This record gives sequence, structure tokens and C-alpha cells, in this order.
Amino acid sequence: MFRGGSARFEHINFPREQMHRTAINLAPTGPRQSLSSAQLPAWSQEEMEFVTWLLALSGLDACCYRPETLQRRLPACLRRLRARSLQHAREVLVQDPGAVAAATSAILVGVTSFFRDPTVFEQLGQEVRRTVEERSQGAYAWSIGCSEGAELYSLGMQLAESGHLADSYLLGTDCRVDAIEQARAGNYEAALTRQVPPTFLSEYFERNGTCLRICQHLRQSIRWRVSSILNEFESGLWDVIFFRNTALYLSPEAVMALWPRLEAALRPGGMLVLGRAERPYGAQRLRAIGPCLYRRQAR
Ligand SMILES: C[S@@+](CC[C@H](N)C(=O)[O-])C[C@H]1O[C@@H](n2cnc3c(N)ncnc32)[C@H](O)[C@@H]1O
Repeated sequence: MFRGGSARFEHINFPREQMHRTAINLAPTGPRQSLSSAQLPAWSQEEMEFVTWLLALSGLDACCYRPETLQRRLPACLRRLRARSLQHAREVLVQDPGAVAAATSAILVGVTSFFRDPTVFEQLGQEVRRTVEERSQGAYAWSIGCSEGAELYSLGMQLAESGHLADSYLLGTDCRVDAIEQARAGNYEAALTRQVPPTFLSEYFERNGTCLRICQHLRQSIRWRVSSILNEFESGLWDVIFFRNTALYLSPEAVMALWPRLEAALRPGGMLVLGRAERPYGAQRLRAIGPCLYRRQAR
């Protein structure tokens, strides 16, 4: 069920009947249920089984990821668990299921920052501003793989500047529990805010010890949810969908199945924001309008 039905959004002309979450399964079809050593000869059977098991504990299918990206993060995962070996890591996780979130976070890359790639944000900000001013109504934006929330807060600041934060609907989803907790808390190391324009720093952040915290008003304007794009899809008509620097970690099969769904989930004129290394292959109605920005055509 789409959860945008709060009274706050009642006045917005949004085709809510078209908004709903659907369960999807992007696991490759066929008998393969765990990563195969043929994909990654240097990867031992034990390593593959461990990663498959760990991600399954978080509801994720390891087959939907590029094996090399998972393998590269395995040492970091063991360090996070203070485990001497994979067997030891399993024991730690069995004894302390609360450590699964941290272990999963170590395996999946979560690098993010505010206004990451400022030129993209500059163009995005102009496009979104034009859209909301033309129709005198806020924007609907979904950040998929939002990590700790910096990119969605960045858009939130731009919307606040144009006076359209209050009537916008902003949703961030990520499969990592601790990333979503962090996004909700809105508390960041100062290093992550390096690209934030100085006026935004003073307007939308407050000091919190050695960290900077997003001001309460902005924090309360964004919804966050733990959800895997491989299992659940927020269909509907979005003005902006961020899907940045996430597709590059997924298997080509899993990503190919997502492009048409993302295209269909955009309102005509809506924008898909990708990372520098990502392209929406096969999405017929998406036109590049700038680096990393794709606009959905009417037909
Ligand atoms: C490199 S970060 C990108 C963060 C942000 N989009 C950016 O570009 O700054 C990739 C994010 O994708 C998330 N992710 C990986 N698999 C996912 C999935 N199946 N569903 C949702 N999020 C996923 C990871 O947890 C991580 O936070």
C-alpha cells in the first residue's frame, strides 16, 4: 500500500489509486540459488555460501548483485564483526542476530554525501523548481538506495528554498536497516556536508557536538523506509526518482528488469537521476537532459 495518504497530502492532485507497493522478484530464474564459483573463480565455496547466507538474513538475494562487489567487501565485513574467520563470523551472527545489520552494511557499499555531484544537483534543482512553480504544487520524489539520506535531504533543501517543501512528498528507501536509522536521525559528520552551499548550512543544519544535524523541520518532512528495490516497488507517478550509484552494484539481469518499471513509475516530464556510470538501457521513453538526468517523455 502506498503510504502517502496522510491528511497532509490530501489536497495534492496525485493519482493515488495508481500508487502502491508491489512485491517483485528479480532473482534470476532457473535452478541457481546461490552464487556460482564459475562467476568468480577466485572466490571460495565457503565465501560464496557465507555471503549468500548473510544477505538472505537481510531478505536479499546475493544472485542479484555483482559478485566481485560483494567479494571485495568481505574483509570489511569480518573486521566489522571482529571475526577471525568466516566460521567465526557465522557464530557471531548466530549468537547476536542484532549484528546482521552491521555486517550487511559492511558488505554493501553505502558511500554518499550531500549535493554529491553538484552540477547534477544544480540542474535538478532548476528543473524541479520549474515543475513545482508551473503547477503550484510540491514534488513527489523517491530516493532508492538512499543510504544515509544525504541526497534526499539535499533535494529537500532545494524544495524548501522554493517554498514547496511542505506540499512535497519525499520518500527514501534502502535495504540497510542502520542506513535508514541514520537517515531518520539526520546526524552527520561535517565531512559529508562539504558540498552544501554555505547558506543552506546555516539554514538547514544545527550543531550537534562534533556533528551537524538536519533541522527538525526538514527531518520531519521526509519519510524513510527499509525496503529492497529487488523485493518491493513503490509504483506510482513520481516527479523525481533517484537511483544513483546503486545499479552499478547489481547484476545486469536484475538491473535490466528494473529500468522499465522505473520508467513507468515516473510522471511524464518526471526525472530519473542516475550515477555517472549508469545508463537506463532499453527505457524507450527516457531522454537524457544532462549528465545523469533523464526525463520521461509523454510517449
Ligand atoms: C553507493 S550507495 C548510493 C547512495 C546514494 N544513492 C548516492 O548516490 O549518494 C548504494 C546504496 O544502495 C543500497 N542498496 C543496495 N542494494 C539495495 C537494494 N536491493 N534495495 C535498496 N537499496 C539497496 C545500499 O544499501 C547503499 O546504501
